[in-house]
Amino acid sequence: MSKTNGEMIIRLKDVKRIYKVGVEHIHALDGVSLDVAKNEYVAVMGHSGSGKSTLMNLVGCLDVATEGAYELNGQDTTKMGGSDLARVRNEQIGFVFQSFELLPKLNAQKNVELPLIYSKIGWLTRAKLAKKTLHRVGLGERIKHRPNQMSGGEKQRVAIARALVCNPSILLADEPTGNLDTQTSGEIMELFAELHNDGQTIIMVTHEADIARHAKRIIRMSDGKIYSDLPTGQDPAYKEINGC
Ligand SMILES: Nc1ncnc2c1ncn2[C@@H]1O[C@H](COP(=O)(O)OP(=O)(O)O)[C@@H](O)[C@H]1O
Ligand SMILES: [Mg+2]
Repeated sequence: MSKTNGEMIIRLKDVKRIYKVGVEHIHALDGVSLDVAKNEYVAVMGHSGSGKSTLMNLVGCLDVATEGAYELNGQDTTKMGGSDLARVRNEQIGFVFQSFELLPKLNAQKNVELPLIYSKIGWLTRAKLAKKTLHRVGLGERIKHRPNQMSGGEKQRVAIARALVCNPSILLADEPTGNLDTQTSGEIMELFAELHNDGQTIIMVTHEADIARHAKRIIRMSDGKIYSDLPTGQDPAYKEINGC
């Protein structure tokens, strides 16, 4: 579904991802077509095993489709080799995971600087950008803290800063609140809302209705297929929570 007339960042057409395990073929994605415009905020819902992470990995250029087409910002990624995909990933994608994936020995600033090391930015600028981004996610006071000196919510903010520091076209978040309590999850959702208001395009995987309702569009998956794609107000997740 084309949501707006705006510029399309993501265009997936009949995408399949088939894993071969022994003689078995697992259709993790089984013909997914999806357009996402600039500054959309999309939640992807579905049961465990429905293909959500596979979809995110493909959109994030961590993996490639077995069949079908994927254009990212007008570039056909299916024709790209490993090094081109790595460059596109570094320049255009910011990833946030349930388990934060921070390096334990590095402080917040150094963790956020990591993606900048691959782009030829000098150390002084790297440090400035990392600090600025940590301020942006509300962690100006935690710049020198290492992961084991921070709460779960703070760690996820560091991970979000790391995802944003290269100014990506898309922020991809796979169960970003999966390891957080309700209040901290709400705070992370407030941060996502701010980022969206500032123009960030966001795709977030969640199986929780009260997290998904923060997005503007909800996609539901089952057995590797999209079976529902609606503005949030029309999705059952919204109705469930608002009692209508
Ligand atoms: N690397 C893999 N090798 C084989 N099968 C996989 C692999 N990754 C995922 N799958 C299978 O693909 C399907 C979709 O998985 P996934 O995208 O992780 O689902 P979700 O994130 O919705 O829980 C599942 O049946 C899963 O077992
Ligand atoms: Mg998953």
